[in-house]
Amino acid sequence: MGGGGREHALAWKLAQSPRCAALWASPGNPGIAAVIAELNAQRDHAGGHGACIALDLADHAAVLGFCGAQEIGLIVVGPEAPLVDGLADSLRAGGFAVFGPSSAAAQLEGSKGFTKDLCARAGIPTADFVKASDAAAARQALAGFGLPVVIKADGLAAGKGVIIAESSAQAEAAIDDMFGGGFGSAGAAVVIEEFMEGEEASFFALTDGATIMPFGSAQDHKRVGDGDTGPNTGGMGAYSPASVFTPTLEAETLTRIIAPTVKALADAGTPYTGVLFAGLMLTSEGPKLIEYNCRFGDPECQVLMMRLESDLVEILLACAQDRLGAIVPPVFSPDPALTVVIAAKGYPGPPAKGGLIEGIAEAEADGARVFQAGTTLSAGGVLSASGGRILNVSASGETVRDARDKAYAAIGAVRYADGFWRHDIADRELKRT
Ligand code: AMP
Ligand code: GLY
Repeated sequence: MGGGGREHALAWKLAQSPRCAALWASPGNPGIAAVIAELNAQRDHAGGHGACIALDLADHAAVLGFCGAQEIGLIVVGPEAPLVDGLADSLRAGGFAVFGPSSAAAQLEGSKGFTKDLCARAGIPTADFVKASDAAAARQALAGFGLPVVIKADGLAAGKGVIIAESSAQAEAAIDDMFGGGFGSAGAAVVIEEFMEGEEASFFALTDGATIMPFGSAQDHKRVGDGDTGPNTGGMGAYSPASVFTPTLEAETLTRIIAPTVKALADAGTPYTGVLFAGLMLTSEGPKLIEYNCRFGDPECQVLMMRLESDLVEILLACAQDRLGAIVPPVFSPDPALTVVIAAKGYPGPPAKGGLIEGIAEAEADGARVFQAGTTLSAGGVLSASGGRILNVSASGETVRDARDKAYAAIGAVRYADGFWRHDIADRELKRT
């Protein structure tokens, strides 16, 4: 379920499994369609033919009907919105194996206040906070914080609902904007937070509600411009692993953050199943939780999939069937992977639409991989841009520098006049090594 670069990477990896007889994607995208076409050609005599199909993911009965008719053996939900909306609940109630949390457990991403309350209850390290459900209370709470101060819309806001205010005036303006409807229903409540200092890292763990299986680390580049300038985006590039996230920090994160979260949700009768994506701040007091996401990161997933050597179907199916404890842990290549997002000019504001894209085959000629994030293919076979983030040019290498050189060389082969990208993905990592 889904149709971005994350889902292209997942589809690419799922299709490599000998257990994948047929693959369907909804809505999918032209890159996913190519993965499916290749699989269909290989599996000519096995279980049927997949395709990209346009299901309305909000129409649970229609999705159930489709999955029943095709005897789908594993459903992987990519994006957060259908999870928060309860798609996994409906499908599980229909007897299907689903990778992704229930609506109740997806509140970890669906409501920042929910997660902060859970952290407070379970003693999980995170920024000090106050929740407010009207502007007056929010303004009043500001007095308890220094500057900068962080103002967050409670609900889903596509990564754009966080304002780091450098002055009280800016903080008050953000509060007024959120309660004034600037973030839709996501801003009906806000969380005000202490500003944490440190380096950020993304950590992924699979869980079936009982077993916890670490699933790699990455570092994202959230700002649109080189040198971390300009507005926040969904992510402009990533690399994995994040060497700053050492085995010691990983162990500490598992014990102090991930395990208490999984336990708290199980104790509440809403066990979490799927991937827990922890956004962490590595502070001088140890790792602290910035936020949870209830699905893989985009573009972090792309670099995890570039490194994963294990059978993804086996792992996600075991997670969906509550038997993670019975399978061998995933194997990731020690070789780093890196991805650079090509976005359409204007992103994260309104992006240039419809620009022609050529040169993907040339870009992939030397081992790089181009995941498609926002593309459409015309009946005549012309690929064009449709979205903000368009392509994820990805490569692995013996070192981060190799991976980066390969990815940027591949970008040189892509012809897409409306595109722009950051030129400094993994700079921080290179300075370290
Ligand atoms: P979020 O959507 O919660 O991940 O926030 C988006 C970005 O805002 C994070 O990746 C951080 O860079 C920044 N951020 C969020 N909360 C804080 C905080 N309490 N202190 C410092 N930076 C934060
Ligand atoms: N790249 C950050 C996210 O997927 O939320």
